[in-house]
Amino acid sequence: MIKLDIKKALVSAEEVAAIESEVAAAQRALEEGNCAGNDFLGWMHLPSSITAEFMTQVQECAQVLRENCDTVVVAGIGGSYLGARAVIEALGNSFQWLTNKGENPNILFAGNNIGEDYLYELTEYLRDKKFGVINISKSGTTTETALAFRLLKKQCEDQRGKDMARRVIVAITDAKRGAARTTADKEGYTSFVIPDNVGGRFSVLTPVGLLPIAVAGFDIAKLIQGAADMEKATSPEVPYAENPCAQYAAVRNILYRRGKKIEIMVNFQPKLHYMNEWWKQLYGESEGKDGKGIFTAAVDFSTDLHSMGQWIQEGERSIFETVVSIEEPEHKLLVPSDEENLDGLNFLAGKRVDEVNKMAELGTQLAHVDGGVPNMRLVVPRLNEYYLGQMIYFFEKACGISGLVLQVNPFNQPGVEAYKKNMFALLGKPGYEKESEAIKARL
Ligand code: PA5
Repeated sequence: MIKLDIKKALVSAEEVAAIESEVAAAQRALEEGNCAGNDFLGWMHLPSSITAEFMTQVQECAQVLRENCDTVVVAGIGGSYLGARAVIEALGNSFQWLTNKGENPNILFAGNNIGEDYLYELTEYLRDKKFGVINISKSGTTTETALAFRLLKKQCEDQRGKDMARRVIVAITDAKRGAARTTADKEGYTSFVIPDNVGGRFSVLTPVGLLPIAVAGFDIAKLIQGAADMEKATSPEVPYAENPCAQYAAVRNILYRRGKKIEIMVNFQPKLHYMNEWWKQLYGESEGKDGKGIFTAAVDFSTDLHSMGQWIQEGERSIFETVVSIEEPEHKLLVPSDEENLDGLNFLAGKRVDEVNKMAELGTQLAHVDGGVPNMRLVVPRLNEYYLGQMIYFFEKACGISGLVLQVNPFNQPGVEAYKKNMFALLGKPGYEKESEAIKARL
């Protein structure tokens, strides 16, 4: 199992004990379904309730895409793409582009920005590709995703013909509402439903994450198994001190109350960059409301030790770190010996590269703790589907508990509507005439 180490979190056993009743009350409310946002708790028992029949449906759809596409574009934003991207990048070869011999389709992402150059370059790249599209939007109306999908749908139909396009375009959206559902039904696309009671950022273990991950060639059954084991390991009967979600939620809230307003998620493996991004959204969007909430930041070490290291070591003391530490890499690479030793690195000859990385990790932890930065470590035995499943469920459940201890509704996101309203008013969307007039007067 993955393990949470709080020994260097700079919190005392008394402080952790003192907050136990609040954490227990938050977890109870979550488990009993009588907390704020309780209409969005469908993610809690997803891992243990997924059926073999559902997994087969996802696998069959993935197989159709794998057989008919060399490239699959996942169109989605926020919770509708970050989880899939996090898992695919964590498990994939760092040089997938260059090394792919065709055994798995390349997975690309779109619909998560409105960059004209990005979309132009994507459509250019796809010109000679046998590509398919997974269009993911719970509301079915998100502008970034809808815009990208409009382009991709037309290009897919033009390039591959209407019949093939119908086979290789898949929709993952609401059961009834939204433009994505209307299009899927009209065009006869294979479609999957995002359950009503699962919010975007908690949806990676629904088809939103599972289908792209399966298309990329990874084992979704193992991912679910990992999540299900973590569901068990954090169930209500597990004592506080042994429940990693309760402990993580407790320490975060203790530190926040002490003025540690920023949590930095740290990895020492570049493949985890998008796990950081997924986590950033999960916690940022769940807790940042009502004038409260830890600001979520993320760094890739040791890369960012050469850019953000100074700030973390000696800047304002308002931060704490959570490090995801992978115990055993998937490959072995030794530092070679060199006769001339011009770089002076022969003292490392014969050691694994990971040993150097681990010492960088340990040295950084001790330096940052000395600099007054509390440090938690999530120790993960290997970077594979099973442990990623555990990590996903661990972070989701801890997020629910932590947000409830903070006394916010962790499952809504009213704040993300503000920019959309302004954008529609500025673009003159029908129905926004009054807002359009008002906003133009402000310019
Ligand atoms: O977590 C969330 O709710 C958001 O990040 C959404 O997933 C994101 O805004 C995309 O929304 P939709 O899936 O409706 O297109």
